[in-house]
Amino acid sequence: MQYSTETRHLHQEIIDQLSEPQASISPKYFYDALGSRLFELITQLPEYYPTRTEHAVMVEHARAIATAIGQGGTLIDLGAGNCEKAAALFDSLQPSQYVALDISSDFLHKAVAGLRKKFPTIDMSAVGIDLSTQFDLPPSVHTQSRTFFYPGSSIGNFDPPDAIALLAHIRHLCRNSGGLLIGVDLVKDHATLEAAYNDELGVTGAFNLNLLNHVNTLLGSDFHPREWRHRARYASAQSRIEMYLEASRDLTVSWPGGERDFKTGERIHTESSYKYRLGDFETLLKRAGFTRTQSWTDPRQWFGVFYANA
Ligand code: AVI
Repeated sequence: MQYSTETRHLHQEIIDQLSEPQASISPKYFYDALGSRLFELITQLPEYYPTRTEHAVMVEHARAIATAIGQGGTLIDLGAGNCEKAAALFDSLQPSQYVALDISSDFLHKAVAGLRKKFPTIDMSAVGIDLSTQFDLPPSVHTQSRTFFYPGSSIGNFDPPDAIALLAHIRHLCRNSGGLLIGVDLVKDHATLEAAYNDELGVTGAFNLNLLNHVNTLLGSDFHPREWRHRARYASAQSRIEMYLEASRDLTVSWPGGERDFKTGERIHTESSYKYRLGDFETLLKRAGFTRTQSWTDPRQWFGVFYANA
């Protein structure tokens, strides 16, 4: 089979990360077609509070958020998924243009096609994009009054230096007008945090294990998900949930041109999900170059929604 240079580069990146003493797989590979559907299910689990808490904050403070942003501009949805969260803002923000970006391109195109029928007056487009790269926007995206929308605390899946780099890049794409509306999961008691990533139905476990199937498809490797266990714990020193896949026995994983042995109990790091304090996230936004920030939260202060002016 012939692979493009970009695909070869991605394969090499996965192999390099698997070969490190602490093996890892980037969380961006969670989102193949099945992974995107499993993530949708996660957002409906009783233990996974972020999605419904963020929604409640957005509904409760819809007017104040719309006042901060203004109406009629371009809404650029980063990591759009099923586009539901952005669609819930259409009434209050009345965007003239909606641009949905996501790494899972097929899933996204279907979601935008459905949305176009419901909101025929909004100019809509869908673009498959990897936010961990220095992405650019298509020339059709208006340069005036850009509001970037990054919900769901996806920023928490970046280590802080990478989070600042991404936020600074978004600020640059604002072209000195507009801003960023972003949802951020907040530090809270450990039991609540750990339960959200260890749900009783095992959906988060399936989501984590599906990464191995996706890597097998991409790389031609021979991971067997049944030989791996889902692990998630809160590391309070770093204020982050860490997710791993743990080998249930001594085993060898092979891929074209290489292999790696794993001992029983050895782990592959698959995701970090950072939790912030309100003030710390404000500092992060300022360090990325945003000027003024406003924030809204729920009565328990479990989730923060920020609007930052470019
Ligand atoms: C997408 N992201 C914000 C989720 C999170 O909570 O970090 C991904 C996730 N991983 C396990 N459950 C949900």
